[in-house]
This record gives sequence, structure tokens and C-alpha cells, in this order.
Amino acid sequence: MQAASKAGQPWTEDALADYLRTGFSAGHGAAAGPMTAVTEELASVPQADVHAMAVYVASLMPKSAAFVASAPGGGGLDPLFAGACGGCHAADAPMTRNGAPSLALSTAVNAPTPQNVIQIMLNGIPWREGKPAPYMPAFAAALTDAQVADLATYLRKTYSDQTAWTIAPADVAKMREAL
Ligand code: HEC
Repeated sequence: MQAASKAGQPWTEDALADYLRTGFSAGHGAAAGPMTAVTEELASVPQADVHAMAVYVASLMPKSAAFVASAPGGGGLDPLFAGACGGCHAADAPMTRNGAPSLALSTAVNAPTPQNVIQIMLNGIPWREGKPAPYMPAFAAALTDAQVADLATYLRKTYSDQTAWTIAPADVAKMREAL
């Protein structure tokens, strides 16, 4: 196992709202244990209300508070995938009620080019207010170009039997500029 400790990233209100709503925050990991029940309840609460809650909770936290929950399903997974994506996409993810599919069934992962996989990682899937629709946080701010390239390569290798992708960090940088 790779050392799990990351330098404590301070929580922002947005990151906390994401976490409360989905059980996952890019940069802080996934909710496990008792927190899962909370996020399941909050999944149906309007975003504005969850955000108001997050603002309040953030105001109570010391500025340096580091709260890095260990990602479930770490085991044999790439540590970056386990930490950033496993909370929703690992086989034993507690958030499957969010509708996150097995990535093996993903059209994007099985497509000829990695464009869609990179795009979805950078942009996520937007929040649709008041609807029990799938939501995925955007990772543009949380992952470097090299990390996005590594993850896309990893997904292809792990979840598809199609020809491997060769992705350079510069390819990701280009797509970021197009955002
Ligand atoms: C908070 C939960 C969550 C996290 C964290 C998350 N995802 Fe997702 N992801 C989803 C949901 C929900 C969908 C959409 C399911 C659907 O369309 O039915 C999705 C869809 C996808 C798809 C598209 C599948 C398709 O339909 O072709 C890819 C690829 C993907 N995620 C990759 C990632 C990667 C890589 C990470 C980590 C950097 C990640 N996801 C982190 C929830 C999450």
C-alpha cells in the first residue's frame, strides 16, 4: 500500500458541499462508515440547502483541518483511482445508489479515442437541481494533466479489452484549454 497521507488540504465550502451531497470530495476522498448514511439522506436535499450547511460547518472548522477519509476498495486498485474515483466507481463503492455504472460498461472507456473519458474527468456531470440524476464532481482543479492522462490510461487498461491508449499530459492540457 502506498502511503495514504496527503498534506491536509483545507476544506472549501464548495468541497464540503460536494462531500455532504455525494459522499465524495475531490482532494479529500470518499465518505465511508457512518458518513455514508448522511450523504444518502442529503442526496435528495436541494444544492442550496446543502451549501448553506457546508458554509456553517466550514465556519466551525479550524482553517488547517485535514480530513482525509480512506477510500474504500483500495486493495489492488491504482492508488490514484482508489482515492479519486473508487468512492463511486470501485466494485464495492458505497455510492452505487448514485447510479455510477461499472466502468467496464462505459461507452467512453471503450471508445476509439480517450476524448470523452478525459472530458468527463475534467468537467464531471453537472448537478441537476431537484432531480435524482447522476452527478459526478469535476476534477479539472483537483488533478494535474499527468494524473488525468494516467487515470484515462489506467481505465482503458483495466476496464476495456480494446487497444491501449497512449495519452500525453499535453493532450490533456489541450482539452483543458478548450473548456
Ligand atoms: C461522486 C461520485 C463519483 C466520483 C467520485 C467519480 N465519478 Fe465518474 N461517474 C459518476 C456518475 C454518477 C456517473 C454517470 C453514470 C451515468 O451516466 O449513469 C459517472 C460516469 C463516469 C464515466 C462515464 C461512463 C460512461 O457512461 O461512459 C467515466 C469515464 C467516469 N465516471 C470516470 C471517473 C473517474 C476517472 C473518476 C475519478 C477521477 C470518477 N469518475 C469519479 C460518479 C462519480
